[in-house]
Amino acid sequence: MNKSCVILGIESSCDDTAAAILKDTNILSNVISTQKVHQEYGGVVPELASRAHQKNIIPVVELAIKKAEIKKQDINAIAFTKGPGLLGSLLVGTSFAKGLALSMNIPMISVNHMQAHILSHFINNNSGNPTFPFLCLTVSGGHTQLVKVKSHIQMKILGTTLDDAAGEAFDKSAKLLGLSYPGGHLIDKYARKGNNQKFKFNKPNIKNLNFSFSGLKTSIRYFIEKELKKNSKFINDNIYDLCASIQHTIIEILLDKLEKAIQQTNIKTIAIAGGVSANSYLRKRLENLSNDKGYSLFIPRIEYCTDNAAMIAIAGLYKYKNNEFASQDETASARLIF
Ligand code: KG4
Ligand code: ZN
Repeated sequence: MNKSCVILGIESSCDDTAAAILKDTNILSNVISTQKVHQEYGGVVPELASRAHQKNIIPVVELAIKKAEIKKQDINAIAFTKGPGLLGSLLVGTSFAKGLALSMNIPMISVNHMQAHILSHFINNNSGNPTFPFLCLTVSGGHTQLVKVKSHIQMKILGTTLDDAAGEAFDKSAKLLGLSYPGGHLIDKYARKGNNQKFKFNKPNIKNLNFSFSGLKTSIRYFIEKELKKNSKFINDNIYDLCASIQHTIIEILLDKLEKAIQQTNIKTIAIAGGVSANSYLRKRLENLSNDKGYSLFIPRIEYCTDNAAMIAIAGLYKYKNNEFASQDETASARLIF
């Protein structure tokens, strides 16, 4: 592709309404409106999320265009999240993208949200990008996947969660500790002051590369209920050690599987992506592991870990280069896989 390409990326799969402008692999703007309305419910309420997307989408897209200092007419294509995610939320982004593409007479590209998390590694393309094939541990609020990434387009899921996602394990544990939603980053913060060996929780025993986190959540719940009967201030008295021990167990489960996948595939270039890849303990443990074992490690910048539209735009760019366009018949898909 010789001529430069400007892509508008739109993300609306969960509780963030986001838009970004990408020129080739460079981000010109990256706007995110995070919905606060869900906090009081301790989790995302789908109907409230889609209504908030409807309210936010036009101002967010307009702001992205303004911040990028381009004209609407400069946009060559629109990339949008087709799935996976909340259907009502996805429909807002999908319908908006279709309407805008039709009115501007430009192509549109449908993007898989999980693949986009992985491709966030190619934003601001430079010599520091992962080389193919690499293994990516994609850990978000809704999904946990181990993916063999063969190219920008070809990816194979080697393992996935059988129940809760890693981010859900953080958020549900945080809720049990009385922390606000989403609590992953709070566990990360409090864990820094705690002893991660103070409390022991069992890890699931799953032979293949799949994950499971619901058993851990249940054992944490029973443990806390039991301790609270002996000491009603148990959580307060032990919050740092509880956070450190829970976080340690979740990260051990993830790292065990990643190491197993490295052994099975003999691929030593590894990456992480998704909201949980912002976790400071995961990042540190991976750095140590890679130094010890000589792996090439790729960790995304914090702003590209959690949901954003820059990653949707970069995923769109590679499909654009591959002439993979969506038609006006395209629709959202809550359980989209690849
Ligand atoms: O990728 P993401 O923004 O949204 C989904 O696609 O689900 O991931 C959100 C998840 C939430 O579960 C949140 O608690 C978790 O990422 N998260 C963290 C951290 N920052 C965000 N979990 C652990 N440590 C963090 N620092
Ligand atoms: Zn995500």
